[in-house]
Formats: sequence, structure tokens, C-alpha cells
Amino acid sequence: VHEIARVKNLNKLQIGKHLVEAWYFSPYPTEFAHLPILYICEFCLSFLPSPVMFSRHRVKCHMLHPPGNEIYRHEDISFFEIDGKKQLTWCRNLSLLSKCFLDHKTLYYDVQPFMYYVMVMRDSNGCHILGYFSKEKESAEGYNLACILTLPQHQRHGYGRLLIEFSYELSKREGKTGSPEKPLSDLGLIGYRAYWSEKIMEYLLENEPTDVSLDEIAHRTSITQADIHYTLLSMQMIKTQRNNHILCLTDAAKEAFDKSQRKVRRRIDPSALQWKPPY
Ligand code: COA
Ligand code: NA
Repeated sequence: VHEIARVKNLNKLQIGKHLVEAWYFSPYPTEFAHLPILYICEFCLSFLPSPVMFSRHRVKCHMLHPPGNEIYRHEDISFFEIDGKKQLTWCRNLSLLSKCFLDHKTLYYDVQPFMYYVMVMRDSNGCHILGYFSKEKESAEGYNLACILTLPQHQRHGYGRLLIEFSYELSKREGKTGSPEKPLSDLGLIGYRAYWSEKIMEYLLENEPTDVSLDEIAHRTSITQADIHYTLLSMQMIKTQRNNHILCLTDAAKEAFDKSQRKVRRRIDPSALQWKPPY
């Protein structure tokens, strides 16, 4: 029974002007499953079974941006902070939608312990959701991110990196280090490893590698020492001799860094973040 319940139950989703294929099972009510297309309101995230019902919905729905507070605005990108406890329906709808693209996360309905950081692109028609991450209000394990998603129609444009960067900016404001909740998906791990290597390389290129301590990098970046250590090992840039970590910048790492620098399309501007920790 469990296996059957997890078989993909949705076909295509219309989200704003984008028609996208669902990847995985999502617990939408059964009457909304197995339709050729499920229509999602890109602002309130309600779901409608037909174009007619969707049009009727849009006449009544006046939302043009996510609920919650706009805590960041830079160029055409904004972030909204949404409390799962205050916006139950919106956050449950977000969970249903994101489950279509997440294989393993299980907390679809328990939205109350989380804050949601939703990234949008603003234009004259409203604020269009690109992706989001959730974050436990209080994480005993020191997680600074629970779940991350770039909607498929916006993937591979650097938005995942932007979400990750934003999650670390929040940790910096909290004066803490943080790490994403495990296990990460394959795509999640790829994104994090790319971000961690880049941040570490940035630091190493600005500082004398011989003086560097993991503690110092952690302090500067809010990346945990464990994640820094893991990244340095995977980049083959760390040698341990009797409790001493010796870092060696490799040409391969420098080349990879230069290549990624040429690709970075957008960055978070910390001065555009109007935020203090809510918990
Ligand atoms: N195959 C190989 N590499 C990929 C990849 C893919 N499908 N998607 C991303 N990457 C790598 C690339 O190196 C990419 O940089 P590039 O496009 O310049 O080559 C880098 O990751 C960052 O990509 P970016 O565009 O910033 O990420 P994204 O907006 O596509 O979002 C995720 C990344 C993980 C958020 C997105 O894939 C996603 O939402 N996946 C489904 C949900 C999920 O698995 N979430 C993580 C749960 S822990
Ligand atoms: Na309307």
C-alpha cells in the first residue's frame, strides 16, 4: 500500500505562464490528481482542476505577491518571510507544490515549526515565485535550512545558489554558523558543494593560506567547520599532520573557482536585507 501511495499522481502543472511536469508523488486531494493539467495560482498557490475554474479563481483572488513581510529587495529580486503558523494554508499549498519536485522530505503538513523564505522576481504583473527554502524556528541541530527548491522552470539560472547564499546571510545576522538539514538530495548536494567551495576559495584567495584556520573561515562565512572540512577534503586541499590542518590551494581548485566566477549571474546584496532574527 505504501508503495502504491508513492507512485507519481500528477501529470502537468500550469504555474503562471509555465507548464511543468511533476517529478514525484504529492499528497494533493485525490480529486485533483491524475488530471492532464492541474492549475496553480502562482500567488496564493491554490490549485484548480480546470482553466475555467482557474479564471474564476483569479477574478476573486487579489494576491499579487506572497503573504508575510518583504525582507529583501534588490534589483528585481525580493524575499518574503512567512511564518508557517500564521499562513497555514499558503504554506501547506507551498508544501504540496514543492513535494512534486522533492523525493524524500516528509513534513508536508507540519508547517507551523517553520519559517518560509520565498524568492520572487518582480515585474508589472506581480511577484512571481522562483523558489524558496524553509527553516526551523528553532533547530537543535543547528540547521539553517530544512528544504530548498527552485521551481523546475527556473532551475539552472543560479537561483538555487542565491537561495543558499541568502540562508547564510540570515545565519550571519544571527551570529551563528548553520548547515542544511540532511540528507540532501543529489541536486541539493551539488548546489551546496559548489557554494561552499566558492566561499572557501574566496576566503583563501584573500588571505594567506598558511594563517588560515577553519574556525576563522566559519566565522566569516557562517558555514560550519564540519562543512568546510568536508569541502576542503573533497577538493583535496587539506592535509592533516598531527592535528594540524595544512591547506594547499591547488591549480584545479583555482581554475574551478575562476570558471564559477564567470558564471555567477546574481548575488545577494547584504545591505538590501532588512531583517532581524524573529526567534
Ligand atoms: N545537473 C548537474 N548539475 C546541476 C544541476 C543538474 N540538473 N542542477 C544544478 N547543478 C549544479 C550546477 O553546477 C549549477 O551551476 P551551473 O548551472 O552554472 O552549471 C549549480 O548546481 C547551481 O545551480 P543553480 O542554478 O544555482 O541551482 P538551481 O536553481 O537549479 O537549484 C536546487 C538547485 C537543488 C535547489 C534544484 O535543483 C531543486 O530545486 N531541486 C529539486 C528539489 C531538491 O532536490 N532540493 C534539495 C533537497 S535537499
Ligand atoms: Na484578481
